[in-house]
Amino acid sequence: MMRDLILRNRSYRRFYQEVDIKLETLKELVELARLSASAANMQPLKYILSCHPEKNSLIFPHLAWARYLTDWSGPCEGERPSAYIIILGDTEVSRSFGCDHGIAAQSILLGAIEKGLGGCMIASIQKEGLRKVLEIPPQYEILLVLALGKPKETVVIETVGPRGDIKYWRDSKGVHHVPKRVLDDIIIG
Ligand SMILES: Cc1cc2nc3c(=O)[nH]c(=O)nc-3n(C[C@H](O)[C@H](O)[C@H](O)COP(=O)(O)O)c2cc1C
Repeated sequence: MMRDLILRNRSYRRFYQEVDIKLETLKELVELARLSASAANMQPLKYILSCHPEKNSLIFPHLAWARYLTDWSGPCEGERPSAYIIILGDTEVSRSFGCDHGIAAQSILLGAIEKGLGGCMIASIQKEGLRKVLEIPPQYEILLVLALGKPKETVVIETVGPRGDIKYWRDSKGVHHVPKRVLDDIIIG
């Protein structure tokens, strides 16, 4: 079960934009993050949810997509995310957020996969622009944006070759290939 979920939990960047995601669904996903581990149990993370086209269109221009796909500037209209969860760090709760947001993001994305959805963690964010359009108070640090939707692309895992190239790539049929290092290369002792 877990291996299957993790295998299916790829970074998806093209979606059936017309498939709506309900606010209730986003809340169920944040509930998974709420129940996840947090350093010193400080729970400093806060969330902004977006599942309406107008709000989504405010968020999208502030995100950078798939830097290794140099001839692709991100999903076109019709293939954009149906929803976003923005993960914020509340500096009034804690001054540092450790890896809490990574754990929260993984919980949310695994939950999304279980629901037949998928998404992508985005850390390349024009943070000040996003802060301005969403009127995010300075108290909150913008940590990650999770793009969510019903995936419209196939992503396959392959093994990093002898040249060690870890760059993902897209083939002529639009299939996205993600090289992963083999187990023997990552267990060093
Ligand atoms: C912390 C973090 C930040 C990421 N930021 C971006 C990003 O800004 N833009 C993007 O397109 N993908 C982003 N990704 C997705 C990675 O590119 C993706 O995880 C990687 O290519 C491996 O693919 P996989 O998730 O399908 O295993 C990010 C992933 C992580 C874990």
